[in-house]
Amino acid sequence: MCGIIGVVGGGPAVPILLGGLRRLEYRGYDSAGLALAGDGALLIRRSVGKVAALADKVAGDPSDGPVGRWSSGIAHTRWATHGAPTEANAHPHFDRSGRIAVVHNGIIENYRALRARLESSGHVFASETDTEVLARLIGDRHHGDLKSAVIGALREVEGAYGIAVLCADDPSRLIVARKGSPLCVGVAEGRVLVASDPAALVAHTRQVIHLDDGDVAVLTADSVEVSGLDLRPRHRSPDELPAEAAVAERDGHEHFMHKEMHEQPESVRNALRGRVDLVNGDSVLAGLGRGEDGEDAAVRRAILLGCGTSLHACMVGKFAFEELAQLPAEAEQAAEFRYRNPLVGPDDLVIAVSQSGETADTLAAVKEARNRGARVRGLVNVVGSAIARQTGRGVYLHVGPEVSVASTKAFTGQVSVLLLMALRLGRARRLSRERGREIAMEIDRIPSMIERVLELESAAIRAAERMVESEHAFFLGRGPMHPVALEGALKLKEISYVHAEGYHAAELKHGPIALLTEGTPVVVIANRSPVRDKTLSNAEECRARGAGIISLVTEGQESVPGAWGELRIPDCDPLVATVPAAVALQLLAYHVARLRGCPIDQPRNLAKSVTVE
Ligand code: M6R
Repeated sequence: MCGIIGVVGGGPAVPILLGGLRRLEYRGYDSAGLALAGDGALLIRRSVGKVAALADKVAGDPSDGPVGRWSSGIAHTRWATHGAPTEANAHPHFDRSGRIAVVHNGIIENYRALRARLESSGHVFASETDTEVLARLIGDRHHGDLKSAVIGALREVEGAYGIAVLCADDPSRLIVARKGSPLCVGVAEGRVLVASDPAALVAHTRQVIHLDDGDVAVLTADSVEVSGLDLRPRHRSPDELPAEAAVAERDGHEHFMHKEMHEQPESVRNALRGRVDLVNGDSVLAGLGRGEDGEDAAVRRAILLGCGTSLHACMVGKFAFEELAQLPAEAEQAAEFRYRNPLVGPDDLVIAVSQSGETADTLAAVKEARNRGARVRGLVNVVGSAIARQTGRGVYLHVGPEVSVASTKAFTGQVSVLLLMALRLGRARRLSRERGREIAMEIDRIPSMIERVLELESAAIRAAERMVESEHAFFLGRGPMHPVALEGALKLKEISYVHAEGYHAAELKHGPIALLTEGTPVVVIANRSPVRDKTLSNAEECRARGAGIISLVTEGQESVPGAWGELRIPDCDPLVATVPAAVALQLLAYHVARLRGCPIDQPRNLAKSVTVE
């Protein structure tokens, strides 16, 4: 999604800004721009497309001119929300005088009313964006004190923002502020930086201040002053960024997605490390507590909240919580939660599942659940992220940075840890030690099972070759494999642009089967499970209508008759099997997308973390 980098002090700003934008590229964007300040002037460059296009534009400026010398600047990668991805809509945006530049992540929800008011007082807008409204509000309030002008404008806006503001009148300071959209300040020698993602800072410093909602900060080359919108000072001290915050390299893999799929044995091992208690058939999750302090029998219900892939992990988690912990559980799209007046209270355990920890919908749901008195826990990958901080208590995934927009290792880590949570709750309730040990041993085998599945790459390529020409595909599963079918379809559609739908295997005949034509690929998850025969009947119904079946079966089982292709996963408990099955479907989606020549790591229209509602 949109990215911000800004710098003040310590030498030429341009290389810092362009380098920072490149570090943010993985988040997805469609235009980029920067503003520099010095010698009482502002200089702006914007372009549609990749950061390389912006860099070309900047390279065209004389190096002895402002571009080469000025040390204060702000820059942005934009993922279009209000207005098409054009140069006019790219950030930075300006006030009426053209002397104040603003970059902004998030959405100003009341921008229409504000824009109408500004237009009626003579403003002529240069873009369709909500951000320009904010820039003009700031400009109208600026009478020498930029911070007051920013605060005055922010008091008028509703919505989410992470902003950085630069003024030609005083290039020695940047004003930054956040509400609902992440922003962190990096403190380096003789230079202070700001970014929406610490990945853009690590090349310069590991000392990072994570701003909280409502913070406004004035940055100079050697100081960071934080206050609230009420002007009261807020004390913020820097944290040391973990080494893993550095953006990873592809390490010889063609795509980050490929690398991350192959990291899964290790990433899941890291997620499980020290958490599986094979002796007692239990798990050790400090963030959930244990014994009297733990989420014990007092919990009446679990509500698992997430979006996209994380929602699919929640849906698998629901099966695990109900089966292992005998605890009623719901998996819910986080965006829906706060708008449906949920009946949630202190007896409910709400678990927010998010790789980035910044997803706006999930964050809003967390706040709602907390307001209603629920016990809210996070299952988050990014340390120090907004959801991690809002929940205060929970479990980190520890799967390492996930760069590919298509989430892979986060999903397998999330499901593995949700299985551990279900085991813990089960053991705190009625689950026997013996059954607990069986499950703990199965969970412990997940990394080695993933290793086996990754050896299936050539089978996945063969199946992908059969699917590559199709514009539609279906994925079928039952029980905990239903969300895996949804996840397989999501992976395929987001990176290959094939229209793919996941269904409960029994649901197809209630309507969607009308869409099957000769050769439509149908991926059927028919692993060992109590309902395998029923799934096989559903596969047969599809084959009878000309569909090409790609089957996912358990090692040692007979094949699905007449299948176009087959992926085999190791034999294991049907709940645990969701993890190796998901990996097999990741391979399939990856190779379809590769054969179709798609830009796998930066799929069109998508962003890595979705910080708008
Ligand atoms: O960072 P989160 O886990 O909260 O992100 C949620 C979704 O935006 C994310 O899983 C998205 O669906 C991915 N592109 C799926 O591959």
